[in-house]
Amino acid sequence: MTEEAFDVIVVGSCMTDLVSQSPRLPKGGETIHGHNFFMGFGGKGANQCIQAARLGAKTTIVAKVGKDSFGDSYIQNFKDNGVHTGFVGQTSCAATGVASIIVTDAVTTIFNPAPAIPDLDPDFYLVSDVFCCNESEAELLTGSSVNNVEEAHWAGRELLRRGCRAVIITLGAQGCVVLKAQESTAKHVPTTPVTAVDTTGAGDSFIGALAFYMAHYPTMQLEEVARRATQVAGVSVQTMGTQSSYPHKRDLPAELF
Ligand SMILES: Nc1ncnc2c1ncn2[C@@H]1O[C@H](COP(=O)(O)OP(=O)(O)OP(=O)(O)O)[C@@H](O)[C@H]1O
Ligand SMILES: *[C@@H]1O[C@H](CO)[C@@H](O)[C@H](O)[C@H]1NC(C)=O
Repeated sequence: MTEEAFDVIVVGSCMTDLVSQSPRLPKGGETIHGHNFFMGFGGKGANQCIQAARLGAKTTIVAKVGKDSFGDSYIQNFKDNGVHTGFVGQTSCAATGVASIIVTDAVTTIFNPAPAIPDLDPDFYLVSDVFCCNESEAELLTGSSVNNVEEAHWAGRELLRRGCRAVIITLGAQGCVVLKAQESTAKHVPTTPVTAVDTTGAGDSFIGALAFYMAHYPTMQLEEVARRATQVAGVSVQTMGTQSSYPHKRDLPAELF
């Protein structure tokens, strides 16, 4: 398969979440009763990929999983979600994802610096068509606080100065800010108020949706792309779970497509 066969190619991690619910954390060596346990598919790269696939993008992931039952079921999870698995390797050594890079067939690159490190290689800014991070990542990278829209505009300008063509900083319930190198204005995209039940993985839902819209509507203004991704991520926070809360195209209003 060539790169051109896909709308969205994600390079990133796959993790199996083992979630135990208990009244409190056990002390070292202590056994306590829990009241629930479940497993879920996670990992930032995989989450982003599943969200893009569920919206209808032809998606593949470049990743490695273990040669074990978790790895086998992860590959099955990709297949169940229509994600091409030809680039998913299996190894007996565990791989750790430190950042996820999404490449679409338009060779457009969305870079998500997660987990962020303060001394990120400066080339990452230069190769990012859209550099997308959350408040704490923006704070770590720029060294200045990012707690509101105004501060996010400031941090976004700093990231543009480092060479990104565009910057999106997500701000949880406050939505996101969008900045473009060729425009001097920073735009704030608010969310529609919703009852948030579980915001885990909202950032990956947002980035997956961003990749979908950029691949499917290449001429769409970045602000509009961000507005729609905000709507998709806003749906994901209204139910529990990470990938299990990611909406499919059929769950979303027609005006988002
Ligand atoms: N409480 C909320 N109400 C509405 N939308 C939300 C809420 N929280 C998050 N979102 C949506 O999800 C997007 C990403 O959220 P956020 O900035 O919290 O990402 P994140 O910190 O990377 O999340 P996580 O690390 O939990 O995946 C926001 O830009 C917004 O569109
Ligand atoms: C931002 O994303 C990182 C993952 O890179 C996460 O650990 C952190 O909690 C997020 N910050 C906020 C404010 O949600």
